[in-house]
Amino acid sequence: MKDQTKLAVLGRDSRANHGIVNPPVYHASTVLFPTVEALRNRNQGPGRKVVYGLHGTPTTFALEEAVAELEGGVDAVLTPSGLSAITLALTATLGSGDHLLVLDAVYGPTRRFCDQTLTRFGVETTYYDPLLGREISALIRPNTKVVFVESPASNSFEVQDIPAIAEAAHSAGALVMMDNTWASPLFFKPFEHGVDVSIQAATKYISGHADVMLGTVTATEAAMDRIRRTALELGLNAAPDDCYLALRGLRTMAVRLKQHQETALALANWLAGRPEVARVIHPGLPSDPGHRVWQRDFLGASGLFGVVLKPCPEKALEAMLDGLELFGMGFSWGGYESLILPTDPGRERVATTWEAEGPCLRIHAGLEDLEDLKEDLKKGLERLAGFR
Ligand SMILES: Cc1ncc(COP(=O)(O)O)c(C=O)c1O
Repeated sequence: MKDQTKLAVLGRDSRANHGIVNPPVYHASTVLFPTVEALRNRNQGPGRKVVYGLHGTPTTFALEEAVAELEGGVDAVLTPSGLSAITLALTATLGSGDHLLVLDAVYGPTRRFCDQTLTRFGVETTYYDPLLGREISALIRPNTKVVFVESPASNSFEVQDIPAIAEAAHSAGALVMMDNTWASPLFFKPFEHGVDVSIQAATKYISGHADVMLGTVTATEAAMDRIRRTALELGLNAAPDDCYLALRGLRTMAVRLKQHQETALALANWLAGRPEVARVIHPGLPSDPGHRVWQRDFLGASGLFGVVLKPCPEKALEAMLDGLELFGMGFSWGGYESLILPTDPGRERVATTWEAEGPCLRIHAGLEDLEDLKEDLKKGLERLAGFR
């Protein structure tokens, strides 16, 4: 079955649900057992065991199964946000005395978790150049347990050579953990490229409507058991209504991503020709330094990309952004609406430097009409250029 078909059929069984197309939302804490024996065995009868709200309900199981199948792992665990999926995966896998390698352009809150919480628990983090491939071997130590990748990287969009990194990590006995949010489970198949643990901020494309916080961790059999047990030990629970909305989001994810991809590429190409723009950072553009690896490993590009403007006064940038009508300014991305954000991809780097001609922007191409989006940006760039 192709992914587009899987999106329509996974995680639902209308015959088990009075013929109703979508699965019901189970709200649960307490689950009752009919006998002492059933209670002792945590066994409700045939099928998957429902034990306690925290351990999951048919609503959560449906989403877990769908995400695991799409990502290509054995099983998935849901968490209340993308960030908690990242912190769960790291917490479950690392312990005192372990060493962790993290790309220097990682999503900011992942870095803060490593620098603060993991440091307190005796885990040492080394940040590496996201452009390293096999050469990452030189940074791997006997106690390196995890190599964390995120491709393309947050805000600066470097494309990582994940198969080469995975080969180096595996030959040293380390796991590869990936934040796969940018590509979604549709545009990058992590387990086909050597990833052991794949994380989605389902807040973004899976939910797709800017109204849900949710994370997923999918893993190989070897890594999964510990992650599931740690999620229970930490008491992580994904809210049932949010799981329902994410399941509903999945149904249209392929058509949404197709449109996000098309509009983002068209905007990227158009912006690259504007006199106010120094360069556009989008792995789907043949001119992008990451294009070759992206083309080799990815099945598509989502709607998020970067723009470096030519040098301009701060107030000129504000004049551009403050007057935009269709591009909202706000955190997160992956919803149906277009977004724009000034970024500073060099701000927290410690192992590499970030060189940019002028201010950087991050654009999320939403599902609006392309010509309307161009017109909004065109007026914005004219405000920037005309600022005195
Ligand atoms: C690449 C990436 N990973 C993870 C997250 C965290 O997701 P959440 O906002 O659901 O915690 C974000 C959020 O912006 C992100 O951009």
